[in-house]
Amino acid sequence: MIEHGKRQGFASLSPQGIKPDSFPMRLFRKGNGRHWDPAGIDFTQDARDFAAMSDDERWWTCALAAQFLAGEESVTQDLQPFVAAMAAEGRFADEMYLTQFVYEEAKHTQAFRLWFDAVGMTGDLHEFLTYNDAYMEIFTKQLPDSLYALAIDPSPRNQIRASVTYNHIVEGTLALTGYYAWQKVCASRGILPGIQQVIKHIGDDERRHMAWGTFTCRRHVAADDTLFDAVDERMQELLVPAMGVVTATFEQFEDVPFGIDISEMAEYAMDKLGRRLGAIESARGADLLSIDVDASPEALEERFHEEDRKELAAV
Ligand SMILES: [Fe+2]
Ligand SMILES: [Fe+2]
Repeated sequence: MIEHGKRQGFASLSPQGIKPDSFPMRLFRKGNGRHWDPAGIDFTQDARDFAAMSDDERWWTCALAAQFLAGEESVTQDLQPFVAAMAAEGRFADEMYLTQFVYEEAKHTQAFRLWFDAVGMTGDLHEFLTYNDAYMEIFTKQLPDSLYALAIDPSPRNQIRASVTYNHIVEGTLALTGYYAWQKVCASRGILPGIQQVIKHIGDDERRHMAWGTFTCRRHVAADDTLFDAVDERMQELLVPAMGVVTATFEQFEDVPFGIDISEMAEYAMDKLGRRLGAIESARGADLLSIDVDASPEALEERFHEEDRKELAAV
């Protein structure tokens, strides 16, 4: 056993203790090769662009960036029970990957903090966030509650509820849609080159994170078909607050800054969510050994990336 605080042996010394061809090891290797340093990004043009914005545009930009900064801090902390849950299940390769995952979230936090400092927003930023009740519901209640439940009981059902909340709603729906909105604004106006670089790197990390979430749900659903209902149930529970996070930011304005189309963003979010759900559903009745080496969750994220790239090139 390699459970935290109860170690009796060592996975790394056991044959097959760390399977090199397993999906989490594949993600771990890929992440090691994609290292980037937030401190290496130049935000001087961002500061000029920020100063030249209208008041509404500046407010909207700060609201979005504050959601990301607070969100990255939250996910840095709240993933940690999942790391321990992997040890409790004897899955050291997943634990290795999740430590990289936690580290990447900490770097994302650093990147947004550096951006705020660079544009001169060094005062308290809570005002850009706390009016958003749906955001507060998800980040101070739903996300921590579902992740810290793993510390008490790391059962497959609780892992699914945690992964759907973390990987599929917070990362897959909220963060990805926000990044997409931001990329569209930046690309169409040619502004905030530093943030554009940050988003490019973060998007690359996030694709691996979401692929791991889809993989984790797939292996539990393959092992126990009744667990697919738990995936669906958790998504249904969170859809309304998740959409509320997006709409609350726009409800502050009569004319949405940068001409962002809210229904286009909602459609974007729902399309990705539905297709990831389909990828989990396709694991029903599948052989567990094949799920463990199946890279299709990664291929799905690469396909989304390619679609975004085409869409943004047309902007
Ligand atoms: Fe992140
Ligand atoms: Fe992430």
